[in-house]
Amino acid sequence: MIDFAVNLAYRAGALVRAGMANERTVEAKGRADLVTDIDRASEQLIVSAIRAAFPDHAIMAEEGSGDARAGTFTWLVDPLDGTTNYAHGYPVSSVSIALVHNGQPALGVVYDPWRDELFTAERGGGAFCNGRRLRVSATPNLAVALLSTGFPYDRFERPDNNLAEFARLVLRIQGVRRSGSAALDLCYVAAGRSDGHWELGLHAWDVAAGALLVTEAGGRLSDWQGRPWQVDNDRLAATNGVIHTELIDVLNDGLLHA
Ligand code: IPD
Repeated sequence: MIDFAVNLAYRAGALVRAGMANERTVEAKGRADLVTDIDRASEQLIVSAIRAAFPDHAIMAEEGSGDARAGTFTWLVDPLDGTTNYAHGYPVSSVSIALVHNGQPALGVVYDPWRDELFTAERGGGAFCNGRRLRVSATPNLAVALLSTGFPYDRFERPDNNLAEFARLVLRIQGVRRSGSAALDLCYVAAGRSDGHWELGLHAWDVAAGALLVTEAGGRLSDWQGRPWQVDNDRLAATNGVIHTELIDVLNDGLLHA
């Protein structure tokens, strides 16, 4: 299964990389919610291969070519995570493929075609980048942490748009990054390149693979209340484990444990 997913991620990543050289067709699904012809072509490649190999598995894919609901085995596919970057020619994006078994991520593959980095994890089998074992950072507290985040594409309409949390955190930590690919952000937590990621308004296909990388690299995942994270949670906090409670406290403005 993992070899199958890796092969698909490499093929889709090659398509994404090659597509950047051409004029891209960009459509707006919302004010900041874009889709390109390459998102669709990548999804078509991945979904048709899964359907041919595993006809009884469900597929949920960002651009809608999968099934409406999950099954015992469900593939979660983000054919191009970082579409806004891609539409602007900004080379930070990834292909994310996860297999979820009875609601639990069983394998995850995230491929970064720009750095040629392949992140992989199988439940209980550890997390890897290009075959090298990953381990989360040992950063001891928020004051010296580098975190990443993102903002929901419907931030113009929703009052809970992460701006208040961002404003609190940016003044308490060493640095904050906004890459535009949540799948890669989570892989960077797993790799110890950042100490945590928080975001809301994500979809299961954005984060299922990266979330498994984080736990398999020894990190911790939860919702913003500190409860165990489920693949369909809207709010995600992922850290090296050590700074987790501090992050949850700041996300809740100190009110959760007051
Ligand atoms: C987006 C990216 C981004 C996150 C957005 C997502 P997409 O996914 O993961 O980092 O901040 O909320 O929608 O749409 O580019 O696949």
